[in-house]
Amino acid sequence: MRKILKAGVIGHPIAHSKSPIIHGYWLQKYGIAGEYLRYDIAPQDLKSEVARLVDSGLRGFNVTIPHKESILELCANRSELAQKIGAANTITIDDTGRLHADSTDGFGFLQNMAAHVPDLNWRNKTIMILGAGGAARAIVWALMTVDVGQIILVNRTYDKAVALCAELTNQYEGMSEIIPGHWAEIPDFLPRCDVVVNTTSLGMTGQAALEINLAPLPANAVVSDIVYAPLETELLKQARGRGLSAVTGIGMLLHQARPGFERWFGVKPDVTAELESLVLS
Ligand code: ATR
Repeated sequence: MRKILKAGVIGHPIAHSKSPIIHGYWLQKYGIAGEYLRYDIAPQDLKSEVARLVDSGLRGFNVTIPHKESILELCANRSELAQKIGAANTITIDDTGRLHADSTDGFGFLQNMAAHVPDLNWRNKTIMILGAGGAARAIVWALMTVDVGQIILVNRTYDKAVALCAELTNQYEGMSEIIPGHWAEIPDFLPRCDVVVNTTSLGMTGQAALEINLAPLPANAVVSDIVYAPLETELLKQARGRGLSAVTGIGMLLHQARPGFERWFGVKPDVTAELESLVLS
């Protein structure tokens, strides 16, 4: 009998996670004898519960809130990116039971942008990032690897933007420039931005609106939102209304799942329109 390949996602709470839908879809599509389950693990139980998952033969797991940072302590190996970001979302367990950590959110962001705006060449571009939380970190680290010209990191709490910029500048001396900005300065930055990315929860169903007038953006600018509920945020609607390229947030979620699936189940999966509607339904 063929061995069932097992993987899953850990978090607390975990019921909301879309990952089982994504991996379940791919398992079925590629005819793989595997399973992908949700594991609700409280912070104080992380070490013992992860040991139990290793013992049960799991090939790996995704990690969501609140374990993205604390999981690193349990990992024998960390990718350079996971180490730099200080967080991981994808863990692979090797044959000896050792954990390997990686962060694929930034990969998911770049892949999603490439899928929707294939002509976008990041080199020397000016990118404005709204927010300085976990999602912004992953995206900014990814952008530092594609040779953008300048990143403007704008955050409600200006000090957090300053701290993240300082950290990145130290790590990537001589590479892309990254500068902090005040939220009130957004209209002044817009005329020179090629890409604007919202990484805050503003505009999400049940959250406050993201009130930005995109009129000063150049005519060929691209606007991207990591919020995907609703899929068409007010920000993206406004961008499309101006004839700008607009990239929805669901693709980042789908693309970040690909490296894990490939490592655990041995097939490089595709992101399709069918998968997107399944996850959104
Ligand atoms: P995530 O991991 O999803 O990025 P997070 O780390 O909690 O979540 O970060 C949330 C981001 O959204 C932060 O940049 C936060 O700004 P602050 O650093 O000032 O808290 C931003 N954010 C949340 N609510 C906001 C609001 N009402 N106005 C502006 N920014 C907001």
